[in-house]
Amino acid sequence: MSFRSVFVAITISGGLLLAALLINHARPPSDTSQPLPELVRATGRCAQCHREETPAVVHQFERSEHSRANITCYDCHQPGDGQESYDHFNFRLAREVTSLNCRGCHRTEYEQFARSRHALPAWAAVSGSSGMSPEHVAFGERHHPGAVDRPPNPLARREGAAATETGCLGCHAIGRPNRDGSIGSCTECHSRHSTSIALAREPRTCGQCHMGPDHAQVEIYTESKHGALYEAQRSSLNMSAEPKRLTTADMPIPTCATCHLSGLDGLRVTHDTTERLSYWLFAPVSERRPGYSRAQAEMQDTCLRCHASSNVEHFYQEAEAVLAATNEYVREGRALIADLRNEGLLTPDPFDEPIEFLYFDFWHYFGRTAKHGAFMGGADFVQWHGNYELLLSLTELKGMAAELRDSRADH
Ligand code: HEC
Ligand code: HEC
Ligand code: HEC
Ligand code: HEC
Ligand code: HEC
Ligand code: HEC
Ligand code: HEC
Ligand code: HEC
Repeated sequence: MSFRSVFVAITISGGLLLAALLINHARPPSDTSQPLPELVRATGRCAQCHREETPAVVHQFERSEHSRANITCYDCHQPGDGQESYDHFNFRLAREVTSLNCRGCHRTEYEQFARSRHALPAWAAVSGSSGMSPEHVAFGERHHPGAVDRPPNPLARREGAAATETGCLGCHAIGRPNRDGSIGSCTECHSRHSTSIALAREPRTCGQCHMGPDHAQVEIYTESKHGALYEAQRSSLNMSAEPKRLTTADMPIPTCATCHLSGLDGLRVTHDTTERLSYWLFAPVSERRPGYSRAQAEMQDTCLRCHASSNVEHFYQEAEAVLAATNEYVREGRALIADLRNEGLLTPDPFDEPIEFLYFDFWHYFGRTAKHGAFMGGADFVQWHGNYELLLSLTELKGMAAELRDSRADH
């Protein structure tokens, strides 16, 4: 070290000491004379400054299981393998904290999450494989053939980067490919510093993304008997129950998490939200998924903790009947559009003519809503937001098709 840098270092540390003394002077004596238990828990050095700089971060952290388990700020913020880092008051911090920083301690959850559609398929639904490394693409395609190695979404392309970044990717970045090679974001459901399972079990948490006319899951849930009971009895539910010991005594009413992730009464907990699904409900025409029987049995195992088998079978029969009827509607609308395209009345671009937007609403809003309503107990969504709208828009599609053909005949 040169004389000059020693001098600079002494001056800086002297300045910091003075600043620290001044800050301490303004703080109550209990804060400065002894380390508060919370301060020790929130890992000393980081919390010392961040109690002033970003106090809410420290308070959130102090309430978490992590704090109780003596996990420190640095456990998450230190750079992992392959992560960019920077200097921060004598600490070396990761430029971005990603699921890589959770993976070391929560490998099982990470692996389940990474193979679900919440991971790379969610990103690819908007951006295609752009932003992914070849390893990402290979990994994703192994679990979801065709859902990862695909082109960017045509609607996202048309709407442009500004709309896509804060709109589509506001929800779909749950599965973003990270530069460090890891996949996705755990904090969408758990948050960064409270890292709570109670939060992840809240229907509102899933409903941040699972809402609106194209996937009205939270609205359907709110309408359902399950949702009504949840509203009325939530204060008596044990939302923080440990996952491996979660029983119907803790939660006699299901939330989204109960049916899609939890291990109720000894069932297996999973972060792969794809495991218990037997149909591609989001598709225009819904086919069975590859693991149809196993998936349905696993979901039904959850229902059967609370319901009799005859009721569950009846429920599925009715839902499958709605699915079959919706598929019929959508097939008819799809054939109509295909015919117009074959006749040269529509350009190949799927989003440049009014009838294409109506067709998109037809299956993407109303068709999906009818199916989702049927599988999650939302009568109004099966009927008024679903089947009625399907009938109306199919009628409108036929009217518009006739006009297109007439206008060509006129020329
Ligand atoms: C000497 C005081 C001090 C210490 C020690 C300290 N920080 Fe900070 N930290 C700050 C200040 C000041 C900021 C800037 C706050 C702002 O922009 O409002 C900051 C910002 C941050 C940011 C946001 C950085 C960014 O650019 O987005 C993170 C993350 C962070 N600190 C984490 C930590 C962690 C983890 C530790 C302990 C390993 C730590 N800090 C220790 C003072 C400190
Ligand atoms: C469970 C892991 C975890 C722990 C423990 C943790 N953090 Fe963080 N922290 C994160 C993540 C994830 C982010 C978001 C980082 C990003 O977007 O790159 C973050 C962001 C931050 C930010 C920026 C917040 C903002 O909104 O601008 C600060 C400051 C910060 N952490 C400080 C701390 C401090 C201080 C502690 C300890 C009291 C701590 N963190 C403990 C995971 C953690
Ligand atoms: C250094 C190891 C470590 C790191 C890093 C870490 N955790 Fe944890 N995590 C733990 C431990 C230990 C527990 C407590 C486990 C227990 O009680 O069984 C825990 C508990 C949890 C819980 C359950 C909380 C509850 O309410 O019961 C969640 C959720 C969680 N971690 C998420 C995360 C996420 C998300 C990240 C990354 C942003 C992360 N963890 C990073 C070690 C870690
Ligand atoms: C940050 C946004 C976001 C949050 C929060 C979120 N999801 Fe999702 N979820 C998505 C996206 C985007 C997809 C579509 C993935 C795809 O492209 O197939 C999805 C898909 C799903 C699927 C279907 C998976 C498949 O194989 O088709 C289920 C089930 C699901 N989520 C359940 C949940 C539950 C339960 C919660 C809360 C515990 C939740 N999600 C929280 C964004 C989110
Ligand atoms: C409010 C959150 C949200 C926004 C904004 C959003 N999506 Fe989604 N998207 C979801 C959820 C949740 C699903 C899963 C629906 C299901 O499985 O029922 C989904 C499903 C999809 C699917 C079908 C699944 C797949 O993998 O093919 C595509 C495609 C898609 N979204 C594309 C987009 C595009 C493009 C945009 C922007 C133009 C967008 N989304 C905006 C939440 C969102
Ligand atoms: C779609 C929302 C969602 C995402 C994303 C998510 N989790 Fe969870 N996580 C949950 C739910 C819900 C539970 C509680 C399950 C239950 O009810 O038993 C949970 C539980 C946990 C637990 C406690 C497990 C146990 O057995 O004690 C840990 C640890 C955890 N998550 C870590 C992670 C990590 C790490 C990631 C990212 C790789 C992640 N989670 C991503 C929703 C999510
Ligand atoms: C009572 C159990 C139950 C509850 C509660 C529940 N779901 Fe579902 N969910 C189901 C069933 C059953 C299906 C259809 C499964 C199949 O395909 O076999 C389903 C389907 C889905 C799908 C459709 C995936 C696709 O193929 O397009 C998503 C997304 C979803 N649920 C998210 C949620 C969200 C978010 C919540 C809470 C707001 C929720 N669910 C509440 C049972 C439930
Ligand atoms: C954690 C327990 C629990 C789980 C899991 C659960 N339910 Fe329920 N469900 C209830 C309760 C409680 C009611 C209200 C019963 C009453 O009216 O007393 C209910 C009501 C219903 C109703 C309305 C009955 C009516 O006549 O109003 C249907 C339908 C239903 N559940 C289907 C399902 C299906 C299908 C599944 C699995 C995909 C499922 N439930 C999972 C607890 C559960």
